[in-house]
Amino acid sequence: MNQHHLFEHVVTQLSIGACIVDPDLNIVFWNNFFADRLQLQSGEVQGKSILTLFPEQAAFLKRKLQSVFVLKNASYSYWEQRPVVFQFKSSRPITGEECQMFQNVEIYPIFDDEQQVSCACITVHDMTVTASYHQELTRLTLKLEEEKAQQQQLIQRLEEAQNQLLQSEKMAAIGQLAAGVAHEINNPVGFIFSNLQTLQEYLQKMGKYIDLLGKIIDKVPQNTLHAMKADYVQRNQLEMVLSDCPELVAESLEGADRVMAIVKSLKEFSHVDSTDWQEADITQGIESTLRILSNELKYKAEVVRHYAPDLPHIYCQPMQLNQVFMNLLVNAAQAIETFGKIEVSVREVDNALEIKVQDSGSGIAPEHLKRIFEPFFTTKPVGKGTGLGLSLSYSIIHRHQGQIKVTSEIGKGTCFTLHLPLLTPEMLTDAENSVRTDLV
Ligand SMILES: Nc1ncnc2c1ncn2[C@@H]1O[C@H](COP(=O)(O)OP(=O)(O)OP(=O)(O)O)[C@@H](O)[C@H]1O
Ligand SMILES: [Mg+2]
Repeated sequence: MNQHHLFEHVVTQLSIGACIVDPDLNIVFWNNFFADRLQLQSGEVQGKSILTLFPEQAAFLKRKLQSVFVLKNASYSYWEQRPVVFQFKSSRPITGEECQMFQNVEIYPIFDDEQQVSCACITVHDMTVTASYHQELTRLTLKLEEEKAQQQQLIQRLEEAQNQLLQSEKMAAIGQLAAGVAHEINNPVGFIFSNLQTLQEYLQKMGKYIDLLGKIIDKVPQNTLHAMKADYVQRNQLEMVLSDCPELVAESLEGADRVMAIVKSLKEFSHVDSTDWQEADITQGIESTLRILSNELKYKAEVVRHYAPDLPHIYCQPMQLNQVFMNLLVNAAQAIETFGKIEVSVREVDNALEIKVQDSGSGIAPEHLKRIFEPFFTTKPVGKGTGLGLSLSYSIIHRHQGQIKVTSEIGKGTCFTLHLPLLTPEMLTDAENSVRTDLV
């Protein structure tokens, strides 16, 4: 066997496709790889156009081959970009349905003695196995990433749940304490108030009686009596006592009235049936929270209210919402350095209540803005802030199917906006059910 035949024999048997075409794109030779798959021997296709033999890819082949003849450079087509050039059956199916051969095709020029491109050789590499592995790998990576994302979500949910539990336990304890204290104070203050009212009446009567006695004494023509009266009145500063009495009682009544108002606020705020959903007046909740915070706020800010008239009551967990208001108001006060302004506005917008808490405090740095709802994110010193206030507020508002948004400008202040949809118990049950199935 001479060398030419030897080479032809080897090329014919190669496990990669080899096809040689002339500048007119007519076939000069192809090996068994092509011959077996098309059931056409090399001799049978000699002189035939490759474009008519592969009509589906004719345009692509023509472009590629011409570029090789003109530019005298090799040209490539990889399976990642164009999986199939020649419609061959796969040596190994990629998936159940896939039966085509994924292939890399290379076309390179064959030069004659004058360095002209006399022919082009097309080689076809069967990449089905590699593609199959690659695709499986991509599928598995995607699946892994999906699972990872799910796990992260789960971890986040667990963290949120744990934080909520922590904070709501704290709040429940405070609530119970407040409710207990309020209950204990309520009774004694009740009788102090009513006794003071009675005392006020009695004092009026006694005042009139003393007045009368004085006038009677003045009418009696006995100097000693007059002198005794004048002496007693002077020594005991009776005029001052008599004029001061009604004022003292009135002040005490006002004090008792204030204590009763605080007790009422505490009771309202702590709603012993705290987690219950009920129809409630939001502005009342804000007011009772403001009353509880009045001491903390009065040296820090002027509180300005803008409540739209005739606001609807909303179906909510009032105690939970009070916690949100409390945290927003405390944050606002803490952001004010000396003395500033806190504006609280409530209005109805698109079947929802919009509640804004705007302060004239220090503002939030842009890099902090996206972190403030994270549990344990705080810029406050140890012992002053746990960083749970806003994350808890976020989940409470979320549970009310609402939204909490923030805008802030350094040095100017911050505005938190709550949107609370006007829920009905039915809407809530639907949502709760879907959350429950979500968690299963
Ligand atoms: N009105 C505001 N003005 C400026 N910064 C604010 C305001 N509200 C919140 N922040 C910033 O957001 C952070 C997180 O607030 P969040 O209420 O969650 O926690 P905290 O107030 O630090 O602690 P906690 O509420 O548990 O006592 C605060 O530490 C603060 O940096
Ligand atoms: Mg806070």
